[in-house]
Amino acid sequence: MIDLHSHILPGLDDGPDHIEASVALARAAATAGTATLVATPHIRGDYPFDPARILPAVEELNARLVGEGISLEVVPGGEVSITSLLEIDDSTLDAVRLGGGPYVLVESPYTHTGELLERTLFEAQIRGLRPLLAHPERSPCFLGDLDRMERVVDRGVLSSVTAGSMAGRFGKPVYDFTVLLFERGLVHDVASDAHGAERRPPGLLAGFERLDEDLPGLLDQADWFTRAAPGAILRGEELPPRPDAPGRRRRGFGRLVASLGRRGG
Ligand SMILES: [Fe+2]
Repeated sequence: MIDLHSHILPGLDDGPDHIEASVALARAAATAGTATLVATPHIRGDYPFDPARILPAVEELNARLVGEGISLEVVPGGEVSITSLLEIDDSTLDAVRLGGGPYVLVESPYTHTGELLERTLFEAQIRGLRPLLAHPERSPCFLGDLDRMERVVDRGVLSSVTAGSMAGRFGKPVYDFTVLLFERGLVHDVASDAHGAERRPPGLLAGFERLDEDLPGLLDQADWFTRAAPGAILRGEELPPRPDAPGRRRRGFGRLVASLGRRGG
């Protein structure tokens, strides 16, 4: 699997403090079935490191992983805040574009943000970039405002949901909105947003198992969200045709009948 969002590089942001913890995160990701992990440190005013440090940090970590026999490739990237995206220069952009192509991981704001959000995303598109919104389901800009999310996606912005949101780690409102996003076909990628081996850990599939209870059939589509779509993004290609969004499980009597039918089959 391909995980497009992680804070694995040591000492740059709120990810690991030192490389041993990065190695532990990598080991946990590989054990969970991830083969490629994009390192996306925060490109945000409160983490003012030089983006030129990303590539050497990735190379140093990959060398360590080879030495440790951990089958995981780390790829450079960044998670760009809306404010930073407005003023990002070309050399920073080159350091953080996913796979070096047109896609850029953009952090959904954690505070209410007005039309500056849309304006910044659309200006980035005019520059030739393809924004991939990180965890819109955890942003007050979108949570509970499906129409806003639909409008943004209609304009060509992609969305990457956090695996932990699907597993219920961010509470019921976030979980319920995540179900809605999948149901409406507004999700293009699932990523871990891992910060450590144990604190916000890597791994992409646990959430699919949980969500499959509400959207039967979603688990069967996990490959599209965790390999096919993120693979195309890393190669700078258009996304492959997406599977039809699964319908919600019927509740009450309908649910009972459906479960008896499955047992019988
Ligand atoms: Fe993140």
